[in-house]
Amino acid sequence: MPKYIVLLGPPGAGKGTQAQKISSSFGYPHVSSGELFREHLKNQTQLGKLAQGYIERGELVPDDVTIAMIRERLTRPDCEQGAILDGFPRTAPQAEALSAMLAELGGKVDLVPYINVPTRVLVERLAGRWTCREQGHIFHETSNPPRQPGKCDVDGSELYQREDDQAETVLKRIQVYLSQTTPLIEHYRSQGVLVEVNGALPIDQVTQTLSELIEKEVLV
Ligand code: AP5
Ligand code: MG
Repeated sequence: MPKYIVLLGPPGAGKGTQAQKISSSFGYPHVSSGELFREHLKNQTQLGKLAQGYIERGELVPDDVTIAMIRERLTRPDCEQGAILDGFPRTAPQAEALSAMLAELGGKVDLVPYINVPTRVLVERLAGRWTCREQGHIFHETSNPPRQPGKCDVDGSELYQREDDQAETVLKRIQVYLSQTTPLIEHYRSQGVLVEVNGALPIDQVTQTLSELIEKEVLV
């Protein structure tokens, strides 16, 4: 039976950072809706052009296209054993669509770590974030600096600052998260799969907590 882990949390909580780490230690692919959109944007596909305005304004891309994009990704062969979802679902219709999709694939949402971080910390994290151009590896000026400024430790590609990390857009993204995504906390709590994780701790401590949770709740 495939296993699916959904990382929930506000912008800057560390979803991408943690997904990259647990994906490489547990072998489930990292499926990030934000990264998939950024790939489409880079390649100037039709979907990329459609998503661009929403992303730049800090708004959500419409559910129908987002759901179709994730469905396509989860049905690729590398997701046969499951996946770590980061940034999806983000709305109630997306959560419903995901359940239906996973049922078709013979699985369900097994674990939803809710990475909780106070809002004031988020703004500072996003202002100092540097992302790798090639594969989206994530760094931070002070909490997780690359060995060489401006260069990715993993693949050597250029690091850049995301357009949507400007303070004004970050505040908008946080608002959107609070109004559209926080209802999912109760949704998954009521299903008995939500576990709150303190995302304000150092990166390695959060990884340790998540790894223990996966071993206990998913790999059984
Ligand atoms: P997306 O890319 O998903 O952005 P997000 O959810 O706003 O989350 P972030 O990527 O900003 O934060 P993160 O939690 O991954 O934090 P990270 O690990 O990088 O979405 C972008 C846009 O795409 C959306 O606004 C929307 O337009 C569209 N979109 C995406 N999904 C969608 C969907 N499902 N529906 C509709 N539209 C969608 O960490 C942040 C920084 O903090 C880094 O610098 C990192 O090094 C540092 N850091 C991480 N953890 C720690 C720690 N524990 N201590 C100190 N520093 C840390
Ligand atoms: Mg991310």
